[in-house]
Order: sequence, then C-alpha cells, then structure tokens
Amino acid sequence: MVESGEGMGKVRIWLAGALVALMAAGCTPMDDLLVTIFGRSMRDQPSFNPYENPQPPPEGSVPFASGNFPAAPGEVNLGQPEGTPVPAPVLPADMLRALTNPDEVPQVTGLDNPIAPDAESLERGEVLFQRACAPCHGVDGQGDGPVSEVAPVFGVSLMSDQALGLVDGYVYSMIRVGRGAMPALGHQITHYDRWHVVNYVRELQGQLPDAESSEN
Ligand code: HEC
Repeated sequence: MVESGEGMGKVRIWLAGALVALMAAGCTPMDDLLVTIFGRSMRDQPSFNPYENPQPPPEGSVPFASGNFPAAPGEVNLGQPEGTPVPAPVLPADMLRALTNPDEVPQVTGLDNPIAPDAESLERGEVLFQRACAPCHGVDGQGDGPVSEVAPVFGVSLMSDQALGLVDGYVYSMIRVGRGAMPALGHQITHYDRWHVVNYVRELQGQLPDAESSEN
C-alpha cells in the first residue's frame, strides 16, 4: 500500500511537471507549428485589442474629451439636450494655428463668453482653478505649481505677454482640448465651468474690465 501510494505520488508530480512545461512552452511553438500546417495562426483574428479604436469617429463629431455640455450653468451634464449651444469641435492643432492666425480659427477665438465675471462666477472659477490648474500653473498663475517643481516643462506662467493677450475663447478652448504639453481638461470641467475658470484667469491676470474688478 505504502509503495503504490509513493508510486502514484511520483506519477502525479511528473504529470504536474509535464503540464507546467506544456503550458509554459505550449502557446508559441504550438501556434508556430499550426501555422506551418494550416497556413494561419489563432493569433491572426479579426478581434481588436483593448483600447484600440475599431472605427474612427464620424466626420464632424465632437470628441468625447471635449464634450460635457450641460443644459445650464450649475446643472449636471445629462448628455446634450436639444438646443444646448455646443461649440464647434476643436483640435489641439487648431490651438496652435489660432495662436498665429486667430482669424482663421473662429471656433477657438470667436467664442462669446456667456458668463459675466461677477463675484459668484469668480468664486466658482477660483475653486476650479485651484483644483485643476494650480498644480501646474501655480495658485496665482505664475507657473510655480508643485508639478512644475518635479517637471519644469509644466511650469508655464499665465502672466506672460502671450498669455495676457489670449482672448477668452482661446482660454476656454485651452481648457477644453489642451495644446502641446497642456492636457485636455474638457472631461473634468463642463462647458459653463470653463467660462467661470476663464473669468478667474482674467481676474488673476488683472484683465477684467475695471467695473467688475473694483466690485471684488
Ligand atoms: C499638467 C499641467 C497643466 C495643467 C493641469 C494645466 N495646464 Fe495650462 N498649460 C500647461 C502647459 C505645459 C502649457 C504650455 C503648452 C504649450 O507650450 O503649448 C499650458 C498653457 C496654458 C495656456 C496658454 C498659455 C500661453 O501662453 O499660450 C493657458 C491659457 C492655460 N494653460 C490655462 C490653463 C487652465 C485654465 C488650466 C486649468 C483648467 C490649466 N491650464 C491646467 C500645463 C498645464
């Protein structure tokens, strides 16, 4: 009894070893062998990889990253109700083009700011700015946020002549789709909230019209 028990144990160990060896070496050589016999491998399939986009988006569609248009300020985004003013699609390449040829890219620079820079808007803008922008641009927009200490490329000041000269629509689109090393934040910040952030950036830059800035 004892002897046959040991015998069975050895056979099991041997089988387990063979199984592991087969599993470890199985896929690739087996696949290669089948290719030589059948001319194709199980790996060549019409399936697509995770994260692979099987179909390009239809012409003129708004990328999801720049979606996020609620029906009204302060409302949760529940898709895009009929009549919501959805700005035309913008690509990061448009942002670069708009920098040198503003008139050519009206969907970036020609946007009207629908939110007056009153105290309420600036308060909301400040919360969002400190949450989403300050890590790189710094609490005062000077380009000295904590991220910039680790990766100086992100320490871009919003007080440069170029940044001061950007129109509201440009700053809005910058938040929406980004440019160069600046990530798109359209996912995190909805349409109306972007305008609140624009107003707050303007305030930091001292660019608000006198009437409004003296109120605050
Ligand atoms: C991950 C870091 C990062 C975050 C977060 C970030 N930015 Fe930027 N931002 C950059 C970089 C880098 C640039 C320069 C991009 C380039 O060179 O094309 C930039 C450029 C800009 C510009 C254009 C400046 C110019 O001179 O042309 C504006 C406006 C701007 N950011 C606003 C914002 C706002 C508003 C937020 C928050 C909603 C924000 N950024 C969040 C990194 C960041």
